[in-house]
Amino acid sequence: MASSPPRIPHHVAIVMDGNGRWATRRFMPRVAGHKQGVESLRRCVKACADRGVGVLTVFAFSSENWNRPAEEVSGLMELMVGALAREVPRLSRDGVRLHFVGERAGLSAKMVAALIEAETTTAHNTRLVLNVCFNYGGRWDIAQAAAKLAAQGLPMTEMNMDRAMALAHVPDPDLFIRTGGEQRLSNFLLWQSAYAELFFSDKLWPEFDEAALDAAIAAFQSRERRFGQTSAQVSTAAA
Ligand code: IPE
Ligand code: IPE
Ligand code: MG
Repeated sequence: MASSPPRIPHHVAIVMDGNGRWATRRFMPRVAGHKQGVESLRRCVKACADRGVGVLTVFAFSSENWNRPAEEVSGLMELMVGALAREVPRLSRDGVRLHFVGERAGLSAKMVAALIEAETTTAHNTRLVLNVCFNYGGRWDIAQAAAKLAAQGLPMTEMNMDRAMALAHVPDPDLFIRTGGEQRLSNFLLWQSAYAELFFSDKLWPEFDEAALDAAIAAFQSRERRFGQTSAQVSTAAA
């Protein structure tokens, strides 16, 4: 019997880590690493779309990243506004639909306006959903979902929580990638990653290219996802 072609993960989530080290190793300011990180993201979005990934969710700025030096935080904010102005027309042409996920309180009015405009401009696109997690934390998301349900007087069941979470518009991630060599979640997608396959790459984010993405996808394809069942049950169901 011919075996079916290996599955492409429908939803890939990435902690884009290592920009600062990439720059420091080149005796450049950390913000230069973040700038290079935007280039790497552009390449990754295209590569994911070309491979048939349906949803890409990336961690761009965490709730905890406000604790960085003021100069780096303001550099990141400027980079985001600039990147949106430059990239959105191209992303839209390529069929990418943008969502910004995270707490908007605390962001400047200019930034919030730019996020809303990018979402509106790309709302009709269907090739790839790109969720950019910005001022996002997994604990923030769980807490805001719980608060929403409490305000509506709804019981906190798993299904209601799923619906109230910031990523309710997409299914849970299949493949969770972290670049930069660290093996931790750093408060990313805590609720949604319950059954994601984890992949840690030593490559710094600016160096994460198509071959590195293919290596992560190949690792995903070699895993057996059991969702609590036994291996024998899974092979019977797949036959
Ligand atoms: C990740 O790269 C990007 C953001 C957190 C905004 P880092 O800036 O954390 O890079 P390293 O980990 O210091 O190398
Ligand atoms: C996680 O990376 C956040 C982003 C990639 C945006 P960090 O570099 O902030 O994580 P820690 O501090 O090393 O855990
Ligand atoms: Mg880091």
